[in-house]
Amino acid sequence: MINHQSNWIRPEIEQKIDALLAKMTLEEKAGQLTQLPSAFSDLPGDDATTANNPDTIQKSRREQHEELIRQGGVGSYLGVQGAAVINRLQKIAVEESRLGIPLIFGLDVIHGYRTMFPIPLAEACSWEPDLARRAAEAAAREASAAGLNWTFAPMVDIARDARWGRIAEGSGEDPYLGSAFAAARVQGFQGSDPADPDHLAACAKHYVAYGGAVGGRDYNTVEMALQTLHDIYLPPFKAAVDAGVLTLMSAFNDLNGVPASANPYTLTTVLRGQFGFKGFVVSDWNSIGELIPHGFAADRRDAARQALPAGADMDMCTESYRYEIADLVKSGALPLEVVDLAVRRVLRVKFLLGLFDNPYRSTSEKETKTLLAPEHLALAREAGRKAIVLLKNEHQTLPLSRSLKKLAVVGPLADSQADMLGSWSFTASPKDVVTILEGIKTAVAPGCEVFHAEGCAVLSANEFDEKAAQAVSLAQAADVVVAVVGETADMSGEAASRMSLGLPGEQETLLRRLAATGKPLVVVLVNGRPLSIPWVAEHASAILETWQLGVQAGHAVADVLFGDFNPSAKLAATFPYSAGQEPIYYNHPNTGRPANDTKFTSKYIDGPVEPLYPFGYGLSYTTFAYRDLEITPTEASAGEPIQVSVTLQNTGAVTGTEVAQLYIADLVASRVRPVKELKGFQKVTLPAGEAQKITFILEQDSLAFYNPAMQRVVEPGKFQVWVGPNSQEGLCGEFQII
Ligand code: NOJ
Repeated sequence: MINHQSNWIRPEIEQKIDALLAKMTLEEKAGQLTQLPSAFSDLPGDDATTANNPDTIQKSRREQHEELIRQGGVGSYLGVQGAAVINRLQKIAVEESRLGIPLIFGLDVIHGYRTMFPIPLAEACSWEPDLARRAAEAAAREASAAGLNWTFAPMVDIARDARWGRIAEGSGEDPYLGSAFAAARVQGFQGSDPADPDHLAACAKHYVAYGGAVGGRDYNTVEMALQTLHDIYLPPFKAAVDAGVLTLMSAFNDLNGVPASANPYTLTTVLRGQFGFKGFVVSDWNSIGELIPHGFAADRRDAARQALPAGADMDMCTESYRYEIADLVKSGALPLEVVDLAVRRVLRVKFLLGLFDNPYRSTSEKETKTLLAPEHLALAREAGRKAIVLLKNEHQTLPLSRSLKKLAVVGPLADSQADMLGSWSFTASPKDVVTILEGIKTAVAPGCEVFHAEGCAVLSANEFDEKAAQAVSLAQAADVVVAVVGETADMSGEAASRMSLGLPGEQETLLRRLAATGKPLVVVLVNGRPLSIPWVAEHASAILETWQLGVQAGHAVADVLFGDFNPSAKLAATFPYSAGQEPIYYNHPNTGRPANDTKFTSKYIDGPVEPLYPFGYGLSYTTFAYRDLEITPTEASAGEPIQVSVTLQNTGAVTGTEVAQLYIADLVASRVRPVKELKGFQKVTLPAGEAQKITFILEQDSLAFYNPAMQRVVEPGKFQVWVGPNSQEGLCGEFQII
């Protein structure tokens, strides 16, 4: 790998840092560890406490911030956008501050800047990490053209609970798939050299276990065994670190009683000691301040005293470091070396980004030229089609025939622009979005009439009967009904946990009325999380899970509806029957009483224990068969790789792409192991009728886990292995490690 962490230690840079550290005052050092927010596009500073500081209250916010930059009192801004304003502020830092240290400008560029790509969860359903790499690279090109140096992405949190709204921002529930996407996105954002002005520093977040929030409630507490932390939640962070990520963000949650932003075990022992991370850690927004309501710190000074030595190098937004560090050091409560180490890490990243040599990385002209570039839009469409999961296709309802004469396109999300963008889309503009209705209208053959009615609102029940009746009458007059339903953009993402996972509002009632017309009913889902939709699964003729696909949503959906693109995506997160099953995930540990037909087994008395759609599931317009599983050797000595191969055949009538998945189970171990774990996948395109042998090499290291003594081990014994189309089906064989 080109960008391993060891590449980030360069003697010439470290010497420059030594020289700077020797000149810096304590206040300037604290400044480098301070990041301030801005909600304005033309000047930094809105709710920063600076604005309320009695020393500066008399001055305008702009003046206050300019003065602060001049004093070296701030090292970074978040939320400032646009090459012009960023260059103006940078000029003050570089030309008017005593030491001329450049600022680093960060922003949440999560799934695109102006060209919005599918939400990360959707992109993960492509099972094509290189697609995510290319999308991240395009996002970096646009964001850096807008003056930015740093994105707070990728979000690599494992999410096993669909109630948690932030499941939308990551790659789903699996550590193997999540690690592949984490590495790919880091490579995309940073490129092979982050000093290249078309790239950004990436930030793996939220470190760590944020997705384990009890009850799926955002910001809630997390309790988990250290083995689960290391086996499941840490691997995507490790993958990001190995891919050379320059920064990490410490999370809001506490983990087993210790808040993530003041946790020396995760931030220092693991991240620095075990993973060898050489960049810096920024705390999440106010998370150092939140040590106080956590009851972990008495006040701001105490919070700073704990967070910095634990390993949170830069404070996002609370200014605890800016106000407290100098005094803490002078009073002997904080060793100077701790401060110097954190400053060194921040300066190292600034040097690696080339900010000292080229602080003005863009211009307004470049910005205008780069945003919404045609190749970015083409990539957004490609990513959109590859993210769409075909969940059901009874009687080959899809693809729709181009000889259709009358098509009803109904539902509250059919003609929505803003809802296609998903969460973290404030840098995009809804007016750039192709709606699903528009995409369909563009795609139909000239003679086809497209009728449209909203049918109902996503949430409100106002005038439901009237609206639904209108949609039903259009359905009655049409050959096929496409109903676009789901969640609004703000129903997933941060602070958007749900306690129910069904279609919100009256949308299911609308679908029931549409189904009663007897017309083929294609349900197009738009949402940021797995939904529990058992009625839809049973009664719709076809279901497309389209997530939130970004600016090209309408074209991507139409491409799949009309068969211009054969769907190939597979779920990156389990769909439950009911929210009551959450957290539900395929790689759960064995129980002593697996569910069966008898009473005293692990299940529910009022619903199935199985998911509605399992992890890895997704259909195609063709069919695939797996045969001839071969495992060599079936008895392997320690360290010997195992080769697993199958023949995959396209048994349908059209060319298609299948994601063949390899799972293993460790049958007897010193710690209860998951029933199955993904350890490989291959995306293969085959013309109709063709077969291909595909081979996986299973390295024994991928069988390792943390034992009760917290040692990472591969234990001898029997393993099962499956190769198949999802986490519930496939050919099964066995091998043994001796
Ligand atoms: C809070 C969110 O948790 C985090 O993901 C984001 O990067 C920061 N705010 C900055 O916007």
